[in-house]
Order: sequence, then C-alpha cells, then structure tokens
Amino acid sequence: MCGIVGYIGRRDCTEVLMDGLEKLEYRGYDSAGIAVFENDVIKTVKTQGKLDVMRKKLDEEGSPSGHCGIGHTRWATHGEPSDVNSHPHSNGRVTIVHNGIIENYIQLKEFLTEKGYVFVSQTDSEVVACLLDYYYSERNPLRAIMETVKELEGSYALGILFKDFPDRVYATRKGSPLIVGKGEGESFIASDIPAFLKYTKNYVLPEDDEIVCMDENGVEFFDVHGLPVEKEVNVAEWDVERAQKCGYPHFMIKEIHEQPEVVRQTIESVVKDGVPDFSEAGLTDEMLRGFERIFIVACGTAMHAGIVARYAIEKLARVPVTVEVASEFRYMDPIVGKNDLVIAVSQSGETADTKAALELSKERGAKTLAVVNVKYSAIAREADMFIHTLAGPEIAVASTKAYTVQIAVLYLIAFRMAFARGKISGEELKRLTAQLYDASKSIQDIIDRKAECQFIASKLVNVENLFFIGRSFDYALSLEGSLKLKEITYIHSEAYAAGELKHGTISLIEDKVPVITVATQSDILAKTISNMEEVKARGAMVIALCRKGTEFSADTVDMRFDIDTPLDDMLIPLPTVCALQLIAYYTSVLRGIDPDKPRNLAKAVTTE
Ligand code: G6P
Repeated sequence: MCGIVGYIGRRDCTEVLMDGLEKLEYRGYDSAGIAVFENDVIKTVKTQGKLDVMRKKLDEEGSPSGHCGIGHTRWATHGEPSDVNSHPHSNGRVTIVHNGIIENYIQLKEFLTEKGYVFVSQTDSEVVACLLDYYYSERNPLRAIMETVKELEGSYALGILFKDFPDRVYATRKGSPLIVGKGEGESFIASDIPAFLKYTKNYVLPEDDEIVCMDENGVEFFDVHGLPVEKEVNVAEWDVERAQKCGYPHFMIKEIHEQPEVVRQTIESVVKDGVPDFSEAGLTDEMLRGFERIFIVACGTAMHAGIVARYAIEKLARVPVTVEVASEFRYMDPIVGKNDLVIAVSQSGETADTKAALELSKERGAKTLAVVNVKYSAIAREADMFIHTLAGPEIAVASTKAYTVQIAVLYLIAFRMAFARGKISGEELKRLTAQLYDASKSIQDIIDRKAECQFIASKLVNVENLFFIGRSFDYALSLEGSLKLKEITYIHSEAYAAGELKHGTISLIEDKVPVITVATQSDILAKTISNMEEVKARGAMVIALCRKGTEFSADTVDMRFDIDTPLDDMLIPLPTVCALQLIAYYTSVLRGIDPDKPRNLAKAVTTE
C-alpha cells in the first residue's frame, strides 16, 4: 500500500510530484522518492522517512528541474523501510514506482538473475523495473509493458519512465488504484484524486491492464493488445478545500468537525419525500423483503460500523445479520448464497480483503451492495449495487467522518428494510428518518464540547492500559472507541461486552486503571451500571459516557461525559462516537503523536 504520482506538463515537475505525494501520504509514509527528467537524464532522489525528510534532502542535494517525472510514498511490505528499498527503482533504462504486491517476484527474480540482472533492494517492485528492461527492445515501451504485465501476478499500479523517452510517462494497473488526471496542456497519474485536484478535476479510470501513455500532446490509452481505447472523462465532485487542513492543526480534527455536515448530506442523498429510497442504487422493497440473511463484511472501523448496523437491522427488521471481518470471511468457506445480501462497507473502496469477500459472495450467488466513500473505487464498481457515502476525502489514517456516514446509511437501510417487511409503519419510517436527520445537531453539540473531551484526555495521557465496556450499541461503540484510541495513542486498550469482562479480563483491573464505560442504552442500563460497579470495586478509574440525567450510586463514577440529546437510544451512537473520537484525538496530541500519521499504519490497505 503506497501512493504513486506522475506528471508531464509545463509546471515544475518536482513541485507537482511533492505536492501530490503530500496528499497521498495517508497511503504510507515510511519513505518517499521521485524521478524527474532533467535535461533528458533521469534524476532520482529518494529516502527513508516521511516527506519532510525528503524535502530536506531535496534542499540539500538540489531539486531535479524538469517537466516530466514520477513519485512514490511507501508503506513497506517487502524489505524494511530504507533508502535503498525506497522507490523509484531503476536499472538504467527503466525507472518505476509501484503500488501493490508482486506475488511471483521470487520466481521472476530467479529468472532475471539468470539473465544477468543484479538486484540492489529487497523489494518485490525492483523485479518489475528489470522485467520491463528485459522486454524492452527496438525502442518500443508499449510492447515492453504488454509483455511484462503478462508475467506479473498480484496487484500493481505502475508509473514508468523509459530513459529513451524523456517526454513521456507510462502507467498501467491491475487491482491497485490508478487515476489519470487530464488538465490543460498537462497530465497526471495518481493513486487518488486529491493528488492532482488542485490542477484539474477531470479524470479517467484505466481498467485492469490498460496502458496509459502521457506526453506533451495529452494522454492515450491502450488495451492489453496494444490497441488504442477511448475513455470517458469524469469530473471530480470533491473540491480542493476538502482535501486540505483549512487552518486545523490536523486532518483528523478537521474531519471530526465535518461530521454534522457530511452526515446531513449523506442522508439527504438517499432520502426522498422524507423516507429512505434506495431504488436508484437498485435496492428495491421487493428485494429487501426477500433476503433471508444479511452479511456485513468489512475491516477496521468500517467493520465496527457494521456491528452498529447489525443491532439496528435485527432490532427493527428482524432479519439475521452476521458481521464478519473480511479477512476471515474470505477464507472461511462461508455459507452464503442467492437469498442473501452481502454488504461490503469501506471508506476507500480499495481494501483487499473486503474486495475479495465481495467477489466471493458474488461468485456464490449472493446479491452484493457496496457502501463506499470513494465512488471510483474497485469495490464500488464491482458490487451489484452501490450506495455512495458522502464524507468527502478522508485523509487522516484514523477514520472518523467515514464511520458516521457509514452508520447513517446503514441505519437508513435498516429503516427501509423494516418498513418493506411490515415491521414498522410508514409513519414510523418517517419519524425515524427525521430523527436521524436531526442527529447532526446532536453531533454538533458534542463537537462544541470538545474541551470536556480534552480534559478526559488529560487524565489518560500517561496510562499504559485501559478498557472500554458497553452493551449492545454501546458495545459496538466501545470497540470503535478502543480502536481509535490505540491506533493513534499507542496506549494498550481493549473493548469488552460489559457482561463479559468478569469472565477473565477483570483480573487486569487494578488501582487507577481507566475503564471507559459507554452507558447510553436505557433497556440494559441497570446491567451496565452493575458492571461499572464491579470494576470500581477493584479500583478502576471509571469514566462514563451516558445520557444526561443518568443516575449512578455514589462513588461509582470518577468522571462523566453527558450526552444531552433527544435521539432514540438506537441512534445515540452517532453523537456518542464523536466524544470517543475527540478523546482519542486529544490523548494522541497530548502524547506528542501525530494523529494523522500513526506508526505502522496506512489508510488504504490493498494488501492481505
Ligand atoms: C485501515 C485503516 C482503518 C480502516 C480499515 C478499512 O486499516 O487504517 O482506519 O478502517 O483500513 O478501510 P476501508 O477503506 O475499507 O474502510
């Protein structure tokens, strides 16, 4: 999982590439590099470390000056982060940047070694540069690429420079994202649109194994046989501002603040005459009546959104829902078939495991629905039906606004399904939809109280271990609160169903260990309070997130964050999660960590 960029045009190429890489840093940031034609010679600068290290190196060594080049930001898979393993990789005649994984690189490396190629890095990507060189003859780059991709197994998006063609950037893809930007007298390739959004909104999506050739005259596309193909030009709906920090210190806090707005917009996009309507996506009432089971497949935060949805769908529509981690689902020989609906939830629409789970479900005859934030992504395009969440570009590695819009859409599916199956009346459908719409106000209220979250964070900043507990919807939120906290603060944290803690894990509770209890669900509040008392009795520092007015017996709670909202219990996760996001964010900042780029992580995980 890495980010690639490429440019040809009149601007200073180094600047365009570095600018683009900055927008793609969410895809990986353990090393970076660029290769630019300077007076017809390829000049490569690359280094281990984030982009600021790279910028420093460019200042020290001098930036390549030219108008045509490629760049890369890396999340290491094969070979540790190091200068030599950084991209671009070159063998003299061919220089490449690669996002993806070449699964047969060992065999290819053996073959190429026999042919006399010498490898300097431990990466799988270097074999691509050598293989391209091997097939490059008679000054024919197109043929070299066509022959090379026949041999490659795995996934790739490649930006390629041929030494003999100082005025061209080639590219191709399979499985990994590659977007071509078409500007006025300039062209771009990138792993994601924000990398070139500043320069053009016009973009083209190459299909698997199509080849892109960009030169001063524009862009040409070729199919696997080398024949020219006409491509549709799309216009990006995102604007530049949404992919920038706009005065906020981090993308994460900006994205937290955007939630009231993006939740409202997402709801509006699928609500007609006051009720959810998915007919545009192809999801009719007849279908919603017919499904025997629902599976939700996803990873990370998106999977946690699926858990909230499970409670909502089962409660309202009385249809069994299984939420499965996509990496498990794809290998568990799942019992899924034509009467089932499989919902793949994903921010990026690129996550390899989620994509594979979706493909498997399709093969087995299930109907598939993608709930995805990136319209042009593989998952959005592959599913039978697609609902677009309108979070806009989410840059911070820790997902926030993508999660809230996912649960908003999944609630609406639950409402419509319950109505279609006769479990709720038309009036109730309208009431629930209106409530959900109002959730934006409650979300805003929580964001306005960020200082309280900051205060809670100040109590967590030096702890080593902590726990989240809750029941039903509160358990789903505990899982997300815990993930958010551990990914950006590096504090060890676990989330437990509140009733389960006593079956072992309570042994870890000792004096002053924080236990964040989410206690918003009135039907099981008394039970959750008992669990809070159990941990309190063992010395825990109990922090409660509860409805305003919730009463606890004396000394049970050390700190409380009151959620003051008219929302039904079922919808209270929307504002509550924002408090958990803010607590994680401020704890991260207080610990001196960059919440946008936590160690070892990347945002779009295109590897298994
Ligand atoms: C990565 C990210 C998580 C995200 C997960 C699923 O692990 O760090 O924040 O939840 O992938 O990503 P997706 O794009 O499919 O929602």
